[in-house]
Parts: sequence; C-alpha cells; structure tokens
Amino acid sequence: TKNNNLAETDEIADLLSSLPKEKSWRSGYVYRYQGFWCPEKQVPAVIAFQKHFLAQKTDTIIVTMPKSGTTWLKALAFSIMNRAKYTPSSSPLNSVNPHDLVPFCEYGLYANNQIPDLSTFPSPRMFATHLPYPSLPDSIKDSGCRVVYLCRNPFDNFISMWHFLSKARDESLGPLSLEDCFDGFCNGLGGFGPFFDHVLGYWRESLKRPNEVLFLTFEDMKEDINSQMKRLAEFLGCPFSLEEEVDGVVEGISKMCSFGNLKDKEINKTGRFHPYFENKTFFRKGEVGDWVNYITPEMVDRLNKIMEQKLAGSGLKF
Ligand code: A3P
Repeated sequence: TKNNNLAETDEIADLLSSLPKEKSWRSGYVYRYQGFWCPEKQVPAVIAFQKHFLAQKTDTIIVTMPKSGTTWLKALAFSIMNRAKYTPSSSPLNSVNPHDLVPFCEYGLYANNQIPDLSTFPSPRMFATHLPYPSLPDSIKDSGCRVVYLCRNPFDNFISMWHFLSKARDESLGPLSLEDCFDGFCNGLGGFGPFFDHVLGYWRESLKRPNEVLFLTFEDMKEDINSQMKRLAEFLGCPFSLEEEVDGVVEGISKMCSFGNLKDKEINKTGRFHPYFENKTFFRKGEVGDWVNYITPEMVDRLNKIMEQKLAGSGLKF
C-alpha cells in the first residue's frame, strides 16, 4: 500500500472547488462528479480507483446502488466462488462481515489516500463498487472481467436508504425528514445517483455484453434465491454440478447467506465495517415492499411518473 502523493491531493482540492455540491444527508457534502453524486470523502478514492485499478480477466466486480442488497450479493458471490474451499460451517461469513470479504474500492481499498497493492490479493479476486458504469476504470470495461450488478425496486431502495442514513447521520444534523429525502431522491440526489441513470447504465451494458455483465434484481432473488444463485454461479464460470444440486449445496449456501442467518452472527450484531457504519445497520428487514408503510399515494404517483419516463423504451420494469 502506497500513499497518494501530495500533488494529487492538491489537484483534488482544486477539482472539488469546481464541482457542484449539495449538503449530504449523512455528513459533509456530496459532489457532482462525472454526472453522479459522490460523497466528499469518496471523491479522492474514486479518482485513485479510476487511475490505478488494473482489472484482470478473472476478476469479479460487484456493483450496486447503495441499499440494493450489496451485503447479500457479496455473501452469495463469495460463497459460490469459494465453495471448494469452505462449507457453510467453515465459511469466513461466520465471523467476518461480507463487506470485509469483498471490499469496496471507494470505501475500502482506495480510501484515505491509499493505493493498495492488489498483486497479492487472494484469488479469485472480487471487488465491489457503487460507481455508475461510465465512471468505471477503463480496465474493468476492457479486460473482459465479470461485472455483477444488483438493483432493487426504487421505492424499497429509497426507504432502505432513508433508514440507513437516519442511523449513520451526524447527530448534530437532527432527524432526516422522509419528505425532504424523498424530494431529493426524485431529483436524482443520493450517493452515486441519479438512481435511474445508474440502473440503466448497467442494464444497457448487460444487454450488449451478457457474458460480461450480469443484471440481477433483489426482487428476483427474494422470489427464488436458488434459481438466481444458479444463474450467478453459471455466469461466474463455476456452475453447480448435478451432484452438488442433489447434495443440497445450493440450499446450503442460500441458507448461510440468508438475512436471518447473517443478521444473527455476532460480528454483524456488534462489529463495525467502517468508521461511519455499524455492521448491524446493513441488516434491517430484508423484505420486498416495506415501502408501503412509509410512502403516501402522492409520493407513489410522483416517483411512478419519473420511473415511467426514465425507463421508457428500455425494456426494464420494476
Ligand atoms: P432493508 O433496509 O430494506 O431491510 P446494502 O447491502 O446494499 O447496503 O442493502 C441493505 C439492504 O439489504 C437492507 O434492506 C438489508 O436489510 C438488506 N439485506 C441485507 N442482508 C440481506 C440478506 N442476506 N438477505 C436479504 N436482504 C438483505
């Protein structure tokens, strides 16, 4: 691991002063960098990631909008890829939070002015990011490595984000108003948003390059986790064999990674993944449709109209 040099740090300060910014719902500001809203502290990390990350063809990159089910997908992808090494009972997931097994580039690896040496990273290499497609490092687009994208119904995504930010938010800011937050979300605000640009970027890429970009939804995974896991394993180049299916390997992994199981692990009740986030905030309810308990019919109309407009002609539906 090397430190970013000072010249780069100065350049970043100049850049930040030239970008549009808004007050963050959590702490500090978010900056509009390359068309998406990037949390202040993540801007230098994103730039370092873009500049220094070199993807290998055998890499897997997990991509999501925050609160789409990243934690779940990390657990599943890690378990599927490493199933020759670990059974559910010997899995590191018993004592390590998924975010520490599959690190974020902009929150983990490249944060705090670090440039990691990834040459010794355990194989198969898996990384995660919230960056929108156009902003991914070139080598991720060109190396033929695998990108797994997971998205979630925008209503649930929004409600999950509102709960999460309400907890992670600087106390001095007071409670986060649901109405203000919703208004911002509809206007494209929120870390790594606009939401629909993010989703559509990966949706279109998955249609163009289905062997390299897999598009999953939280809802499909909730409805039939085993069939989605089979899709994922096939995409990752390690399909479940008939024997494994008969032996219940698929069910073993899906149970291991289930909300109820992971939420109750000691590390996920008491640990911290990052200075700002407690592990337990990544496990709230894990359901589809919880938004109906929070969102008024007027709000539903407003977001439905935006969704209709944004998704028109794309073939994507929620
Ligand atoms: P809710 O707030 O709706 O409960 P992310 O991992 O991208 O931060 O997303 C967090 C959301 O995924 C939260 O949604 C969380 O409860 C849910 N989640 C976390 N682990 C899960 C799992 N194993 N199965 C299903 N949902 C899960």
